Amino acid sequence: MTSILITNIGELMTQDRAHTVLPDAAIMLEGERVSWIGAASGAPAADEMYDAGGRAALPGWVDSHTHLVFAGDRTAEFEARMAGEGYAAGGIAVTMEATRQASDHELTRLLLARVDEAVAGGTTYLETKTGYGLDEEHEARSARIAAEVVDEVTYLGAHLLPEGIAAEDYVRLVCGPMLKAVRPYVQWADVFCERGAFTPEQSREVLTACRKSGLGLRVHGNQLGHGEGVRLAVEFDAASVDHVNHLTDGDISALADSWSGWATGQRGTVATCLPACDLSTRQPLAPGRKLLDAGVEIALASNCNPGTSYTTSMAFCVTTAVLQMGLSVHEAVRAATWGGALALHSESGTDDDGERAVGSIAVGHRADVQLLNAPSATHLAYRPGVPLTHAVWRKGERVR
Ligand code: NIG
Repeated sequence: MTSILITNIGELMTQDRAHTVLPDAAIMLEGERVSWIGAASGAPAADEMYDAGGRAALPGWVDSHTHLVFAGDRTAEFEARMAGEGYAAGGIAVTMEATRQASDHELTRLLLARVDEAVAGGTTYLETKTGYGLDEEHEARSARIAAEVVDEVTYLGAHLLPEGIAAEDYVRLVCGPMLKAVRPYVQWADVFCERGAFTPEQSREVLTACRKSGLGLRVHGNQLGHGEGVRLAVEFDAASVDHVNHLTDGDISALADSWSGWATGQRGTVATCLPACDLSTRQPLAPGRKLLDAGVEIALASNCNPGTSYTTSMAFCVTTAVLQMGLSVHEAVRAATWGGALALHSESGTDDDGERAVGSIAVGHRADVQLLNAPSATHLAYRPGVPLTHAVWRKGERVR
């Protein structure tokens, strides 16, 4: 197994349990794992050396919410929105048509290009959703293609009610044959619980069926207005509720209460904030500061999709969280790394050697590391919009 020592790191932000930030540090990667961390002056010998030149190192981004399996373009919808039109869930149908018409080869090519773009920006662990197939055949195809490329796949048959089918029939399909068809490829299920999408009752049916089939749960909730998404997510012990733009104090307390067992390792429901989407849909930014202050664990994710957030840039999300959501740089980086991993139940290994642990740099964890072309992570917010990714290792392999 080859070892590589990344040395002369100006600032190492580990996002480990102790929130360690080390100056003048080094990291040893051995195979797919991190095997040593410490002061550069005390580093052990390695097969290869990489001189970071005083740059900052941090975990690769964990993007826990994306919709990357799609074809087609919605530039016109975006332009209309910027001219004052509101966002409506119906745009999903436009992408559904284009996605259904694309060949497997074309969908895979598009997905790979988006993943490459994300990796080039420092992302090393990716979740993506189905949700633009919306029938048995095309949802299963999207799930299969996604499973070949990304780390975690979420079933989102309940993204929009397609035209020409009654709601109760569609929900039955989502909970029955469609679920069965996607099941071999997915770990998670999601439901868009929102006006214009699925009602709380329909969402409950979907979550119940998906839980029964052994999938972990997530909910798109409280994006376009107040609603029951957050309460439903907490009730179903979902790993995350995503968007969370419109929250009452009661929603925030429910999320905070879900973390009451965290001291003993019992995970609650992560509130995933999607700032690029909020800006692109002109929604109020999710109240990340308020959520953190209330004791809720949060994640930041790109929500890369063709309708509401066509970006893979996690750095942009971190920058926005600092400049406009009131998070410190450390909190924002944590939400975009460890927080994303927590939302995917991958922040610590479930096996003895920590195989699945991502989102923090710790001995035994997956060797997912990025170097910034800057001396500290503060530059992510201090130099907004400047592409700072300098080098990226994923599972110990240099991918940029
Ligand atoms: O997360 N909210 C629902 N789903 C996507 C939007 C997808 C689309 O408009 O194509 C989102 O914003």
